[in-house]
Amino acid sequence: MAFDRFGRNIHYLRISLTDHCNLRCVYCMPEDMTFRPRAELMQDEEIFLLTRLFAELGFDKIRLTGGEPTVRANIVGIVHEIAHTPGIRSVTMTTNGVLLKKLARPLAEAGLQRVNVSLDTLQAAKFKRITRWGDVEDVWEGILAAEEAGLTPIKLNAVVVRGYNEEDVVDLARLTLEHPWQVRFIEMMPFAGATELQTSHVVTAAQIQERIERVFGLLEPANGGELDGEARLFRIPGAQGELGFISSVTQPFCASCTRARLTADGRLRLCLLREREVDLLTPLRQGASLEELRQLILDGIWHKPWGHGLAEGLIPLNRTMSQIGG
Ligand code: 5AD
Ligand code: SF4
Repeated sequence: MAFDRFGRNIHYLRISLTDHCNLRCVYCMPEDMTFRPRAELMQDEEIFLLTRLFAELGFDKIRLTGGEPTVRANIVGIVHEIAHTPGIRSVTMTTNGVLLKKLARPLAEAGLQRVNVSLDTLQAAKFKRITRWGDVEDVWEGILAAEEAGLTPIKLNAVVVRGYNEEDVVDLARLTLEHPWQVRFIEMMPFAGATELQTSHVVTAAQIQERIERVFGLLEPANGGELDGEARLFRIPGAQGELGFISSVTQPFCASCTRARLTADGRLRLCLLREREVDLLTPLRQGASLEELRQLILDGIWHKPWGHGLAEGLIPLNRTMSQIGG
């Protein structure tokens, strides 16, 4: 098992399969985003080899991210291989849902267990304004296809941005009355340089909850008040689904963090919000032995940082969300 120097057992790996995306969300990337050349990204076999190494070190939970993971060639084959790696107990995916209508069933058959689908508003015009290129109807059909394929429980992620979708949290929360979904509200993290959205555009989880409670009344704590991953869970009284609040900016959950990230270009990233990374792909391509790679991973994890500096205005500069994998 892999531990860091604070005694945290790190066993959850988020693998970014590509930095490319078929949308251009305003809080994530500029419209004229430039992507990495394909040769710099991990090839399928390199992903599988690293996954096996992480699994041998006790990692049992994998989440596939991007960019948008479904735009990667051979995504179904990649899911199949990872899901059938000894030691891996769960494979999930964070996706914008645009391609799920077509892919939900093959992905489920390949061994994908669940999806988190990003959905910031139900209104077509606002969805277009936030994602620049997206059609909310595609995402809706994708969510229904995912549910039908058994990629459940469905979780929906809404990033809340001042001036874009603050009011929409009410309609999104309302979905849980009829659907057994978990609708999660995420504080926007400002990534310097990548977008024009700054700290002043952050809507805090407390403000989001207040807005929802004004309409539905006080929320009931769910999950015994425990964190579910990074989300604090609640329920509208009588609702089928749950609401989650992810306050990464105002209340970081570093103490319970079990995760590490593998970027699409093969760097082990120890914290979303700290620049520290360990290059695994270059040594792998230069012929490093499995033992050497294992040592690089263990050393990197040992030095996993604690705490981010967002509240003090410290914003990581070296990569955007789509280059890290969210
Ligand atoms: N702040 C918070 N969440 C973000 N995401 C992308 N950019 C940001 C940001 N700046 C989210 C997406 C998706 C996941 C991949 O990351 O909405 O849910
Ligand atoms: Fe694509 Fe997700 Fe970034 Fe939107 S937030 S541009 S869907 S990677």
